[in-house]
Amino acid sequence: MFADYRFRAAAILLLAAIVGGSALLVSWLRSPEVAGAHIGGPFELIDQTGRRVTDGDFRGKLMLIYFGFVFCPDACPTALQNMADAVDLLGPAGEDVVPVFITIDPDRDTVEVLTDYAEAFHPRLKALTGTPEEIAKAAKAYRVFYRKADESAPGEYLVDHSSIVFLMGRDGRYLTHFTHMTLPEPMAAEIKKRL
Ligand code: NI
Repeated sequence: MFADYRFRAAAILLLAAIVGGSALLVSWLRSPEVAGAHIGGPFELIDQTGRRVTDGDFRGKLMLIYFGFVFCPDACPTALQNMADAVDLLGPAGEDVVPVFITIDPDRDTVEVLTDYAEAFHPRLKALTGTPEEIAKAAKAYRVFYRKADESAPGEYLVDHSSIVFLMGRDGRYLTHFTHMTLPEPMAAEIKKRL
């Protein structure tokens, strides 16, 4: 009887330890530091002036980076406008933040297309394209998902894609992220804390 009671108590303690340990592990895995530990990485692409750029060119600056496509009717323009406005709200300090757009539709988003597109949002916006392989590599580094939808007419299609605005530090490491819906004021406030 006594032994059975001790066995049950031990079993309950063990179960509590497992549950408590799992909860700790889950909260640790969900913390921004850990979640962001593997976001970002090297890329080599072409900007809207035709110049070859790598992630290394942005060291010393913060990158506000978004993956999308020019033909996108909603999320992409919203994200880019919010990013541009957030950078402007920072005033002179905003010079240390580079807004970056990486297309996930390199077939249509050529250097020429990106020149006009970038101008529409911010004078310092870097709009990047590349080969499908280079784009895939960059998207994978940022854990960005994208998939071309069926064509509605020849050459007319949408691209499903993740819609996250990443803030990367001066050393290229992940700091935090926003969605395309994050308004310029809260976005600027979060960036300011990390400048
Ligand atoms: Ni989009």
